[in-house]
Amino acid sequence: MVAVVPAAGRGLRLGADTAKALVPLRGVTLLRRCVDGLLDSGVVDLVVVVAPAELVETARAELPPEVVVVPGGLERSDSVRAGLDEAARRAPGAEHVLVHDAARALTPAALVGDVVAALRAGAVAVVPALPVTDTIKAVDAAGVVTGTPERASLRAVQTPQGFTVEVLRAAHAGALAATDDAALVERAGSTVHTVPGHPLAFKITTATDLALAAVLLEGLA
Ligand code: CTP
Ligand code: MG
Repeated sequence: MVAVVPAAGRGLRLGADTAKALVPLRGVTLLRRCVDGLLDSGVVDLVVVVAPAELVETARAELPPEVVVVPGGLERSDSVRAGLDEAARRAPGAEHVLVHDAARALTPAALVGDVVAALRAGAVAVVPALPVTDTIKAVDAAGVVTGTPERASLRAVQTPQGFTVEVLRAAHAGALAATDDAALVERAGSTVHTVPGHPLAFKITTATDLALAAVLLEGLA
């Protein structure tokens, strides 16, 4: 199983003095924690990390030698495409691929196994999903509420997301931008299945998230 790790973002909302993937969390970078989780799952045998172009060497130095690091692009979907191209070169016969945000540094290895199991059972696209606890509103550009989707039918989705290589590459072929790979696959007409997500697979986006992750890690130790 091949995993692509988009790690080329700037981390503007976190506001650290380096790219978010290279920010340390209790002494170990988010990127290293994410990659270790993938390798610890026992179901991933090739990891392709997509890093900011000027930090490719820095990222490589953080990681086990068998991990491949390539430069990313402007939008997350550009980075995923760069990772998919490299994965296709390194593992041309691979049937499936995982895409997993570096920013989801505390993702349990077992969740990786759950996504892979759903792929092996025949799904072409799989996302971890959690029920939402807040009521979600749709708003217009002025912030005026335009609707309230029924909460019971809503899910917050996480990564790793799993796909057949064919379906994901076809969905990305239009060079569209999306913050979620499954959204491209949906638009292309394929069925996306869910598996239960995990609270620890939350995305570290803000300084609050990073502080929360540090506290959680202490509790887990
Ligand atoms: N990502 C990427 N290439 C980009 C943008 C994002 O590889 N051009 C990656 C990030 O490194 C992260 C994941 O996609 O691991 C999820 O994106 P997000 O949480 O939005 O991270 P950033 O884009 O870095 O943060 P921000 O949007 O706050 O700048
Ligand atoms: Mg972003």
